[in-house]
Amino acid sequence: MDYSRFLVPQKEANEPYITRILAMRAFQLPNLISLAGGLPNKDVVPIVGCSFTCADGTTLTVDKDEMKKASTYQSTKGNPKTLSWIHKIHAKYHNPPILNDGNPNKRFSTVVTPGCMGAMHLLFRLTVETDDVVLLEEFSFGGTKKNMRLCGGELVGLKMDEQGIRTDDLKDALTRWQQRVSVASGRKLRKPRLLYTVPTGHNPTGVTTSFERKKEIYKIAQEHDLLIIEDDPYFYLQYSEDFVPSYQSLDTDGRVIRLDSMSKLAAPGFRVGWVTGPDAIIREIVAAQTCCSISISSLTELAIMKLFDHWGMDGFHQHINYLRDFYQKLRDRTEQMMHELLTDLIEWKSPEAGLYIWAKLKNNQNSLIFADMEFCEKHDVFVVPGVDFSCDLNNATSYFRICFTYTNQQEEAIKRLRNLVVDINARQ
Ligand SMILES: Cc1ncc(COP(=O)(O)O)c(C=O)c1O
Repeated sequence: MDYSRFLVPQKEANEPYITRILAMRAFQLPNLISLAGGLPNKDVVPIVGCSFTCADGTTLTVDKDEMKKASTYQSTKGNPKTLSWIHKIHAKYHNPPILNDGNPNKRFSTVVTPGCMGAMHLLFRLTVETDDVVLLEEFSFGGTKKNMRLCGGELVGLKMDEQGIRTDDLKDALTRWQQRVSVASGRKLRKPRLLYTVPTGHNPTGVTTSFERKKEIYKIAQEHDLLIIEDDPYFYLQYSEDFVPSYQSLDTDGRVIRLDSMSKLAAPGFRVGWVTGPDAIIREIVAAQTCCSISISSLTELAIMKLFDHWGMDGFHQHINYLRDFYQKLRDRTEQMMHELLTDLIEWKSPEAGLYIWAKLKNNQNSLIFADMEFCEKHDVFVVPGVDFSCDLNNATSYFRICFTYTNQQEEAIKRLRNLVVDINARQ
């Protein structure tokens, strides 16, 4: 594949600077005395060790040497041990065809990033510029839309059904992108090169793209030479034992960039994520991270790496099973209460993965009232109005998003939601 087609022409912004290159190289040469990098002396670092306590009571200790290494600037690609764990996870759960392809143009590569958002921040800057049209689900995560627009991208939202993005609409957007961008007015917009998608437990609709649909979409991506950005933080939160395989597991060409995150598997505050895909793109992300010294905190990386060492692959799998059972119960408790109290007021489909129920007001064309904090605070419950996720902010929608995983007070939350919706209807 010609990856330069997907990259915004790099001006000097991404040129590595010499100081940084010399400093990073010096770390690899134990006999060299470096007078190059602007680094503090390691002997005066005030923290010389630490330990992390796991939920199972195990203590993971960071000794003096590890702490010394962690206390200086890190490789922005990630610690080799973390990268090796990530490779093992991908080999087991995604078995990416390009992992063993042998073609140097498609070499599989990984970079550790500050969550999926950190990855998107850099990735969109590398791949989206003014007059680019980007394809994504018609309702999409706010952070994604914001990041794409900041880069000058025009968004075309694709219609979805219960299987994921509709292929007829994808094909339509690939021939009529000019007409489908409302602000086009005389501008010459480039044919889309990027398809961004959240295929599992989609935020906000909860839809999981079926494997059949993924194959169809992948084929269309091949025909139109699209890069697929698979943002998949909910992949490991599938409620069925048999996971729907990822786009990465279909990717014979090296056209899928996969974003993963520990935010929903461990904690969002840790800010740990990673990107996997063809080296030609990953290399550019690493260069962009290096330019700005963006990397995750070395202490957090140590914690996650030690956690992986402690778990091993079996422990990782057990943790996923534990999360699945835990969240499935919360989903079922939430839905049971919704069935008891809300069926006259709203409708919804049960999600097969992730954290969200996408619900629709039956008696109201517009759910924007949920953005009226003063009104909602009277009922002590918040949900998100669907318009916040819409690619077309002028489109009123009666949908809204319920996240059922953060609270443990499912029953009370749904009682309050009922009162809120009754109040909304009374205002009409
Ligand atoms: C689709 C999607 N991508 C990315 C994120 C953010 O992930 P992270 O915390 O890893 O930046 C979220 C979180 O809500 C999300 O739903």
